[in-house]
Formats: sequence, C-alpha cells, structure tokens
Amino acid sequence: MTISFNEDSLSFDLFAKDLQYTIYIDENKRLCHAYFGKRIKNLNVRHISDLYRRAYGPNLSLDIVPQEYPSYGTTDFRSPAYQVQFRDGSTVSDLRYISHRIYPGKPKLEGLPSTYVDGEDEAETLEIHLKDDIGKFEVILFYSVFEDFQAITRSAKFINFGEDIKILRALSTSVDFEDDNFEMFQLSGAWARERHVVKREIKPGIQSIESRRGASSHQQNPFLALARKDTDEWNGEVYGFSLVYSGNFIGEVEVNQYKDTRVLMGINPFDFSWLLKTGETFQTPECVMVYSDKGFNGMSQTYHKLYTNKLARGKYKLEQRPILVNNWEATYFDFNEEKLLEIAKEAKSLGIELFVLDDGWFGKRNSDNSSLGDWYVNKEKLPEGFEGLSKKINDLGLKFGLWMEPEMVSPDSDLYRDHPDWCLHVGERERHLSRNQLVLDLSRKDVREYIVETISNLLKSANISYVKWDMNRNMTEIGSATLPAERQREVSHRYILGLYEVLERITSQFPDILFESCAGGGGRFDPGMFYYMPQAWTSDDTDAIERLKIQYGTSYVYPPVMMGSHVSAVPNHQVGRITSIDIRSHVAMSANMGFELDLTKLSEEEKDKIRKYINDYKKFRKLVQFGNFYRLFFEENEVGWIITDEEQDEFIVYYFKVLGEPNAKQRRIKIKGISTQKIYRLDGTSEIYGGDELVFAGLLLPELKGDFQSVLLHFVRV
Ligand code: DGJ
Repeated sequence: MTISFNEDSLSFDLFAKDLQYTIYIDENKRLCHAYFGKRIKNLNVRHISDLYRRAYGPNLSLDIVPQEYPSYGTTDFRSPAYQVQFRDGSTVSDLRYISHRIYPGKPKLEGLPSTYVDGEDEAETLEIHLKDDIGKFEVILFYSVFEDFQAITRSAKFINFGEDIKILRALSTSVDFEDDNFEMFQLSGAWARERHVVKREIKPGIQSIESRRGASSHQQNPFLALARKDTDEWNGEVYGFSLVYSGNFIGEVEVNQYKDTRVLMGINPFDFSWLLKTGETFQTPECVMVYSDKGFNGMSQTYHKLYTNKLARGKYKLEQRPILVNNWEATYFDFNEEKLLEIAKEAKSLGIELFVLDDGWFGKRNSDNSSLGDWYVNKEKLPEGFEGLSKKINDLGLKFGLWMEPEMVSPDSDLYRDHPDWCLHVGERERHLSRNQLVLDLSRKDVREYIVETISNLLKSANISYVKWDMNRNMTEIGSATLPAERQREVSHRYILGLYEVLERITSQFPDILFESCAGGGGRFDPGMFYYMPQAWTSDDTDAIERLKIQYGTSYVYPPVMMGSHVSAVPNHQVGRITSIDIRSHVAMSANMGFELDLTKLSEEEKDKIRKYINDYKKFRKLVQFGNFYRLFFEENEVGWIITDEEQDEFIVYYFKVLGEPNAKQRRIKIKGISTQKIYRLDGTSEIYGGDELVFAGLLLPELKGDFQSVLLHFVRV
C-alpha cells in the first residue's frame, strides 16, 4: 500500500494491493478523477486528462469532467456530491484545492463507525483540503488504503469558517467512470426476503437505491456494485460500494449524455439538512470501495476479510460463535420458566451451547401490543427473575442470553405514560404505530441516558452472556420535541448518531457479552451495526429454501460469521413449507448455526440427526465461520457454495437442489478455490480425491431423489 503525490503532474496515486486510484489537481485547482481499477505500472495522468481539456474552452463545462467531489451550480449538470445553502438563500458553491496531507494509519471518524487499523503500518491516509472562497467553508476528503485488503475508503468532513450554512447534501463518495459499460448489482428485498441479488442494466439518467425508513432497511442494503458485462463469480471487473451507515442512505448511478457513469453514495439527502454554525464540523459516514478483477467472489472475499478483521471489534470478533437455541418460534409470548427449562434441557442433550430468551419476558408483555420500555422481569412468567432462570440454565451447562428492543416504546407502557414526548413525533400530528409501537427519540440526550442506565442495570442483574438487540419498526413522523425548527431535518441522522453513542457505551461496558443485532430480521444488516455487534440475525425467514437466496445475496458483502442461521420447525412458520431436517441443518451449517423451535417436540430420529449435525459443525465450525466462502453457482433449481481454509487443507462443499426432477442426470460439479496440488479425503470415508481431479474433472454428487435435497461434503488433506 502506498499513497504518493507527483509534484509535476499534481496527481495522487493510491495503491492497495492490486487496486489503483488516481486523482489530480487541474489548472484551475479543481480536484479531478483520473483512474480507478487494476494497478498500472506507468500511468501518465496527463494522457487521461487530455480528453477533458476541451472542458476549458471558451465555454467552460465541467459536465464532462470526472471530478472527485462535484459541486452544484457551476457547469456540471449531473448530481453533485454535496450542496450547501448560504444565509442569502443561494446554493451555488465551488470547491478548489488548497492543501493535502499524507500520513500512516487511518483516523477514526468522530461519532461514526468505520473500518480501522490496529497499527499505523496497516493503512495510509490522504487528506485533501478543498475550499469555497466565497462561502468560507472547507471540505476535507479522506482516502485510506490498506496494506492487506484491496479496498479504499472515503469520507468527507465539512468545516465552516464563515457565517452559518445549511448542508443540504453531503455524500461520502463520488466516482466518475469514463464509460457506461457496466451492469448494476444491488441487494434488494423485503421483510423475510432480504438481500436478493438484483441485476439491472444501466441507462442514461439516474438509477438508485435508497432508504427513507430511518434504518438501512430490509428493502435495499447500503451496497451496490458495478460490474463489467459478462463478469461472473471468478472472472471480470467489479467495483463494490458499501456504506458504513445504518440509517437513510442513497446509492446513485448516473449515466450522462456522453455515457460517463457517476456513482454517488452517502446519507440520503431526502428530508435531510444540517445547520452548520461558524466553527462547527460535519463528518459523513465512510464508504468502502472494493475493486476486483476476479469477479464477484474476488469482491466478496475482500469485504469478508476486511469486515471480519477491521470492522467488527471486541472479544468475539475472531472467536468461534456458540450454537444457540432461541425460544421465539418455539413459544412466541406463551412461556413460563418450566417450559423454558424443558427446552434448555433438551438443548443441552443435543450439544447446544447457549439458551436465548426472546421477546415476552418483561412488563406485561403477552403480545406485541404493550410494555416496550418497561424493562423489568415479568414475575408471573419468571418468578425467580433472571437471576433464578440464568442460574438454572447455567447449572444445566448452557450459557444464558437475552432479547431486548431498547430503542422502542409501547404506548401501553409506564415509560410512555411518564414520558409521552420521548418518542419521535411531530407536534399534534398522529403518531402512527407500527407493530403497536413508537420509536424513542435517540437524538435526545435524556433518552439516551435512560437507555444506557436501564440496559446496563439489566445486564448487571444476572449472568448474561449474549444479547439480541432488536428493532422492529421504521420511522415515521420524524421530529423531535427538543430541537428548534431549523434543525428538524437533522433528526433521522441525529437518531443514528445517538444510537451509535448508546451502542458504543453499552458494548464497551460489557466486553464479555456477545451482542447480535437484529431489526425484524435483517432490516439493519449493515456495516454500521457490525462495528458494534459482530453478528446479526439475517432474516425472520427461517425456511431453508428462502434462506438459500437470502444467504447467497448476503454473502456478496458479509461473511458467514456475521449471519445467524437457525433450524426451525416444519411446516415453516413464514412460508408453510415442509423440508427435511437435513437441508434445514445444512443451510444453518453454512453460517452461525442455531435452533429456533420447540426441541421437546422432535422425534428421536430427528434428535439423533441434530446431534450428529451439531457434532460435525463443532468439528469444522472454525472453517465455516472464518474460512473463505465462495459462491459456486445459483441456478433456478440448484445452489452450490464452498468454504475453504486459507491453506486449502480443508474445505466443505454444499449443494442444494430445490425440486426433484424426473429422469435427471446425476450432477458433477467442478470445485473451485482449492489446491490442485494436494490430495484430499472425504471426511468419514476412505475415499481419496486429487485436488486437480476435483477442479478439472469435477466431483460427482450422490444421486438425489425428492424435493428439497442437500449434500454437505467435508474434505480434509491427506
Ligand atoms: C423480530 C425478530 O427478528 C424475531 O427474531 C423476534 O425476536 C421478534 N422480533 C420478537 O418480537
């Protein structure tokens, strides 16, 4: 990794492994973009910029010039990276280069999550200072490149030296490509079917993904990729853009009249503004940009490694995660201590390690219409409180974990009766309910203090090893009772800053607790949350077949260790489908394995199988959670993926076939990601395979009959 400045061409070259990002300062001191892609030995930036000289003919036009942080109101008619409003109402500004700094390491972003380094030698950072002379504000662009990851991060910081300004738009990154020969990939969906891979053609005009829901959302993940046509999992160029943020975001791809393509990503400017008083600063979130010339798997590998090692933090980031049982789909709100202990006993006998008590343990919570905010134990259900229950669970040899939803309040709660103005709301307007609840106003300090104090006391009250931090509704009536009129459009971002502060305080106070984030399943499955909590509940859909799509799409950016995947009952509660315990287990064994069903109702045969699967999983859990996950194929009826270790001494092949076919040919698959030089044995057998045979001739899969079939094959080097 290096960053260098060339005094002659006034250009900056940033290198991260095989990635190069080059920018230059033009004769008018504008910061322009030259190149983003595969590392080049000799790039003469003037050969690139020559194309744009005509922009400075008699009629200046920035409309064709690739820029690094384009302004609004001069001669570029595309979407700008930022826009500010001055006291006279005008919104035209023009940033020019004033200075730069190159230094080892990577600075933290104040109040925001970001990728980080553990030593200064792991990354290098370039700061470029730009200034609008008339408006007297500056923008610092931050670029960091890593030694070990083919990624470059960007963010921007606004500093106001002049009169008060209003920021109307402040995106994190803007990258101009010289052509439009791309396809756009995004991870889209809905509750219970999150992050399906969607590919679209890009056309002249703007195509975008966004969230206006106050959370990064089930509907669109804060990620997009541009890939050269015909790129596949192993070959071709891909550019990934992933935003480290959990709130309203936008990702925009604009193709202009010259077939240039501009990618923008950052906080959604919709219903956003930020009053920046003299002397104040505003920091944008970080965008992590990855370049791969080894297809989508190449891109995913970089995100997986970077996010596992340099985004997730704390004791558990590289520790094997426990196999848990969660009582939600087993009991919903209808449980007592006896029932929970029955499930826990069975869990222990199957080899499960952690018991998680989900929703319904507090206040008068017997359905979803009350008690959020009243975080004290319901003694009718749990007469001895957590202290008693957790002790009994621990005595069985299991760890004890707890669900909570601290950001919410039920109108039917003591908290709401005491503090009706503590939720997001707009004056006298109706406070729309969703799942019978309202959102606490985390932009308020007093609300944040209440949450930190209440949750800290709760976590101190028993031997709690794990927390599932849930959030079950999106924001409406986004207003705060304490902010002045001119700051009301700051509320959704202030909420996220407030949330990050709360998460930082609680997770650092309880370093021994494993935190898992959740938002009605995967409604906030984003890099921002992974900075505080190293794993997340992937989706409320536990059906094995739907999970193939969800986990496949999720793996574009996020590694298996971040995905919770549970075996649940059949017929499945979300889709009604009946699948075998084998395929349900194999899907769960592709990520962080767990169970979410009444274990006491299983047949002896099912229990025997589960015992075996748990044993197998424990044997290769490290490989699953921290290995290299590669997608092999996703066809209409068949899905394959593989997990290998770094040394290619061990790997697991997963194959899933959705519907049985008449007169089907037995399938042979060519294995990728393993060594052609090594010899492997299929674990549990004496069958020996050459790595070269598996790669070039392929692996013949067993004959499969019936619907919803799967195969999990573990190979070890001999
Ligand atoms: C939504 C979560 O995704 C579920 O797993 C469960 O915890 C419920 N909330 C409880 O209300």
